[in-house]
Amino acid sequence: MNKRAESVLLRASDLEQSAFWMPFTANRQFKKTPRLLARAEGMYYWTPEGRQVLDGTAGLWCVNAGHCRPKIVEAVQRQVATMDFAPTFQMGHPIAFEFAERLARIAPPGFSRVFFTNSGSESADTALKIALAYHRARGEGQRFRLIGRERGYHGVNFGGMAVGGLQANKRVFGPGVAGVDHIRHTHDPSRNAFSRGQPQHGAEFADELERMCALHDPSTIAAVIVEPVAGSAGVLVPPKGYLERLREICTRHGILLIFDEVITGFGRLGQPFASQRFGVIPDIFTTAKGLTNATVPMGAVFVRDTLYEAFMQGAEGIELFHGYTYSGHPLACAAGIATMDTYEEEGLLTRVGSFEKYWEDAAHSLKGTRHVVDIRNCGLIAAIELEPRQGAPGRRAYEAFVKAFEGGILIRVTGDIIALSPPLIVEKPQIDRLFGHVREVLETVP
Ligand SMILES: Cc1ncc(COP(=O)(O)O)c(C=O)c1O
Repeated sequence: MNKRAESVLLRASDLEQSAFWMPFTANRQFKKTPRLLARAEGMYYWTPEGRQVLDGTAGLWCVNAGHCRPKIVEAVQRQVATMDFAPTFQMGHPIAFEFAERLARIAPPGFSRVFFTNSGSESADTALKIALAYHRARGEGQRFRLIGRERGYHGVNFGGMAVGGLQANKRVFGPGVAGVDHIRHTHDPSRNAFSRGQPQHGAEFADELERMCALHDPSTIAAVIVEPVAGSAGVLVPPKGYLERLREICTRHGILLIFDEVITGFGRLGQPFASQRFGVIPDIFTTAKGLTNATVPMGAVFVRDTLYEAFMQGAEGIELFHGYTYSGHPLACAAGIATMDTYEEEGLLTRVGSFEKYWEDAAHSLKGTRHVVDIRNCGLIAAIELEPRQGAPGRRAYEAFVKAFEGGILIRVTGDIIALSPPLIVEKPQIDRLFGHVREVLETVP
């Protein structure tokens, strides 16, 4: 065990008094019975006690190339010793430009402009602001409405939270931003339970956008934002024809279509981006997570050239009054370039296609297992939905998560849904172990 891991172990006993207010965590529960990780490599974490844990979630859907990849680690080490920070407001540094070029190379044609942020949440808010500013730049400033979708997750900042469709956010933090509305989600278990890949039914859910246009007047709507595959709200795969129909309605009414690709970006669906997998191209798409293999926090918003050009008209001056101190941070760019090298050298952005069927079969082999009411999959993502325990929603899945961790597997749960999304380097025996262990856990959880 290394020294850092040891010191974490020593302090674990008094975590109950810890100063760390943990995000999206039941703090009191956790601090009584902590689950700590101290080291990571490839497909695995190790606890401070030295117990190996198979990473079934790529950290938080982000460590796409696996943990502590030497090329990325070395690039960050080199960069921090060369130039720790440099501003990108009216100044620049070469690797920010280089990284943007690298990203444009893997984006769909016509997306050669990239705006850097520091997280998925910032990417969402940046995309929404670009949409509003774009319409204003073209003399359509009356387009102020933003449309999201129920069960959508676009991070925790006010813009993304407002267009997101999570009840917990609405209840606690209120509506957030004026002029926001939501179309319905696409989950329809009565017709689509146990679908393999894209469900057959539900393209017509996109027609809700037409209803919204009729209600609000389409010339007041700036943008629609959706996750191509909704992740955090329980893995909702778009029904066949749904994204195509959304695209068609947006185009017809001059509304910008934004894809939130924070989870789906960088190979998770067997293509660099979900738009390439589904053949539906948005006007703006947001990324983060796999952008730097999560080694250094970073996000990036990809924008169609035509949008960028609209900003470059008129008198010279700051075209978009927006940015973050750490936009294009040197360490993040160094990590990102090395990440793209790793993805390219190992073919990771398209690797999933070669074993997606195996993954799908492994996931659906859990049909009939105790508590399981639905299984969904797309690319290297799978969701196993459990019947909620009466009077205690979420409890059964949470207990499964704890048991799985104790048995050496990291899974993720959201409500009563188990979501699996390992690093893209996963091998078949690890897939077997992942689903095999989840099956065992479900047989023992009450
Ligand atoms: C689709 C989507 N958008 C945005 C975010 C927010 O990203 P971050 O936590 O980096 O702010 C997430 C995080 O899981 C996400 O899944």
